[in-house]
Amino acid sequence: MTEIYLDYAATSAVRPPVVLEAIAGYLADIGATPGRSGHRRSLAAGRLALRCRKQLAELLGYSGDPGRVTFQLNATHALNVAIVGTLRPGDRVIGTAFDHNSVRRPLTALARRGVSSETLELSASGETDLVDLRDLLSGAGRPARLLVIPHASNVTGTVLPVKPMVDLAHEFDTLVLLDAAQTMGHFPVDVEDLGVDLVAFSGHKGLAGPQGTGGLWVREGVEVEPLLFGGTGGDSGPPEMPATFPDHLEAGTQNAPGIAGLAAATEWVLAKGVHERRREEMLLKSLLLEGLRRLPSVRILSAEGAESVGIVTLLLAGRDPGELAMTLDRDYGIQTRAGLHCAPGAHRVLGTLQTGALRLSVGWATTAGEIEQTIDAFKQLDIIGT
Ligand SMILES: Cc1ncc(COP(=O)(O)O)c(C=O)c1O
Repeated sequence: MTEIYLDYAATSAVRPPVVLEAIAGYLADIGATPGRSGHRRSLAAGRLALRCRKQLAELLGYSGDPGRVTFQLNATHALNVAIVGTLRPGDRVIGTAFDHNSVRRPLTALARRGVSSETLELSASGETDLVDLRDLLSGAGRPARLLVIPHASNVTGTVLPVKPMVDLAHEFDTLVLLDAAQTMGHFPVDVEDLGVDLVAFSGHKGLAGPQGTGGLWVREGVEVEPLLFGGTGGDSGPPEMPATFPDHLEAGTQNAPGIAGLAAATEWVLAKGVHERRREEMLLKSLLLEGLRRLPSVRILSAEGAESVGIVTLLLAGRDPGELAMTLDRDYGIQTRAGLHCAPGAHRVLGTLQTGALRLSVGWATTAGEIEQTIDAFKQLDIIGT
């Protein structure tokens, strides 16, 4: 049975060969930590990390200091650093109905430290009422300190209208943190165009790097208290964390093999081009949607028509999504993801909070042939189920 991987929104389990080679090459030939010691291996690791930061800055449309791109272990880590590091007791923060648990849970935890959070409602297609947002931001004279926006929902695939939301937030001097876990590497994330203040991203999803990689970009002038305190290699005398980036937010020995893989991955993304990747992804998604829409028992839940990423979320009549995912894997080799996808708010909007749903997500290695085989599998399941 051939394997068809359609869970790229969770992680790019299939990675470009250059990523694997870069990790093996780093472990074989370098092995040291960037920014530690002055020997040749450490310097080589430092050059690699800098190359990776510069490439990530280019992907973010940022031409300033590449040190503002800090390495974190994943988007969850980056979001925690940004959220905990910008909010103080008494502050207000605004999240959205589409928030992943990596936003929702830190906000909930911060409530115990005197930070109050409110939720902006969204429609399945990502529409929001800017009047509601204005009210939430202004807080009757107590403006919010932070607005967290998911660039794209990991359940509906919908891309949110970030720019008008940022413009409004800045009227109240509210900082904007963009959760780009579902966009970085395959949908444009341009910090200058969007005007956001912080961007958290995964290295292992759209960027196709290894797990254990991610990052947080922080605009110059934005203050973020470190989440972790410790050694940074240089400037070892003072007891405080250095104020300079990236050291300010990078305590301890970094995931250098992961950074080597991420450097290769970002180089690969830049060579291919984000727009070309998006074009290919959208073709595959349309093909998948076209085939699935013809099946009477398939109910597509993810937004159609609105700007979106390569995610298709659905229900098949009479089938539990978890059991369906298992059947697809066992009988057809098709790997998908069922459940609430760590984002119960989005399922509430879709009306699937009780049942969960099945998510298929295409990625860089998905082929039209695989999409056809997937549609064929659903055709068979459609017949079996009716
Ligand atoms: C929208 C969104 N935010 C954050 C995350 C967390 O990303 P990571 O797995 O890199 O921690 C995910 C992961 O699925 C996500 O989809």
